[in-house]
Amino acid sequence: MHKEMIITIDGPAGAGKSTVSKMLAKKLSYIYLDTGSLYRALAYKGVKNKINFEDMEALNNLCSNISIVLKNSEGQMKVYVDGEDVGDKIRTEEIGLAASKISAYAVVRQRLLQLQREAGRNGGIVAEGRDMGSVVFPKADFKFYLDADIKERIKRRHKELLGKGNSSELLAIQKDMETRDNQDSKREIAPLKPTSSSIIIDSTKLSLQEVVDKIVRQMANK
Ligand code: DC
Repeated sequence: MHKEMIITIDGPAGAGKSTVSKMLAKKLSYIYLDTGSLYRALAYKGVKNKINFEDMEALNNLCSNISIVLKNSEGQMKVYVDGEDVGDKIRTEEIGLAASKISAYAVVRQRLLQLQREAGRNGGIVAEGRDMGSVVFPKADFKFYLDADIKERIKRRHKELLGKGNSSELLAIQKDMETRDNQDSKREIAPLKPTSSSIIIDSTKLSLQEVVDKIVRQMANK
């Protein structure tokens, strides 16, 4: 019986992290941890309560007065904000951008750190986000960094939004994605970047299954 490992998958929006992480977690019978949804959960409550994200006191209050609970069932991670299953409500571009914005603040990152580490306490987890390998699980057994050409990432996001029945314009997605790439990789605390031990995978020309196969091969070769 092999040890229950911690596997991290970081990378920019639209690189395929979520689907790949879910597929990998299922294959290994591991827990899937989508940390972006925690930032989205905070942003969701902030937007709902019309909080000004530049007002530090309001942001502090938001972080102190929110209950975020994670539940894993059959490979899906459910997020509850103050008892409400937020489901697809946090999957919009508006909430994604707001999540990216608030994620630059130390109080926000600190609020979510414990929750993430707690989820990985016993190992057996595939954790995806921006700082999984660099900050949250620096001792992870395997660290992957999934990247893709921005044009391809825009196309994928467009398809995903259309598939969910949302209206979607390529130009608007491009603008949002460039903003998010900038915010997520240029912030001072826990910026998006591969660590020195990350295995970088470019998924531009690969199917999601090919990415998973590549990850599994890399793990078997170690
Ligand atoms: O992965 P996602 O698109 O659901 O994440 C939404 C935002 O949350 C992302 O743009 C930046 C932030 N985030 C973060 O700062 N650190 C993480 N580990 C995960 C997400």
